[in-house]
Amino acid sequence: MSVENTASSKPHIHIAPSVMCADLCNLEADIRELETAGIDMLHFDLMDAHFVPNMPIGLVLIQQLRAKTDCTFDIHLMVENNDFFVDAVAEIGVQQIAVHVESATHLDRTLSLIRAHGIKAGAALNPATPLSALDYVLERLDFVLIMTVNPGFAGQKVVPATLRKIAECRAFLDKRGINLPIEVDGNVSFENIPKMVSAGADILVGGTSSVFHKSGSRTENIQQAQQAITLGLAHRGG
Ligand code: DX5
Ligand code: ZN
Repeated sequence: MSVENTASSKPHIHIAPSVMCADLCNLEADIRELETAGIDMLHFDLMDAHFVPNMPIGLVLIQQLRAKTDCTFDIHLMVENNDFFVDAVAEIGVQQIAVHVESATHLDRTLSLIRAHGIKAGAALNPATPLSALDYVLERLDFVLIMTVNPGFAGQKVVPATLRKIAECRAFLDKRGINLPIEVDGNVSFENIPKMVSAGADILVGGTSSVFHKSGSRTENIQQAQQAITLGLAHRGG
């Protein structure tokens, strides 16, 4: 889902629903409603219960869903064996993969492996990880994933320092003349979206505090998220 803006200078902001937050017992119906509401990107959290102490979804779910939708598949790896999972999801057919700099022993090689599959490569940073971790892989990146919560679980509250980290990441890239999308993941709520977008977020992972919020339907929640995006864009670069 990208929010078209009249002023061509305004960026497109994508909403990528986090599938682990969907109704996994009625997933196809959930996805259909999201597609009808204009979603064209889905975020999949692949965890191995080692890098993070959780395992909400697996490879077979992604494989089965691949056959059901044309959405862009945005894979967020939270695993120790990154190269194994890169090859596995590449075989399924995905469009972008983020690997955690904290889990990648050979980050440059893994990012190159992702691109060798013809897939967009992203580096994911935990809240405490400095932006300098990106310094020597910038040439290998198609996007950056800023975690605004500690990875592993949905339903958490944003780590306050990460809101300024989004703006600092945008400045970090701008200073180097690099125009990469910044994806933001964790407590992307109706209240936080304007702050995240005005700080420079281009892709928003919608989870329990927005797209899948209990207060509304998927359609209502996406409309509310779009309004929050518009508010954020109005203050962008201000
Ligand atoms: C957490 C995952 C997120 C999570 C977001 O490790 O990466 O995608 O599902 O859930 P909320 O939006 O509820 O924080
Ligand atoms: Zn995620």
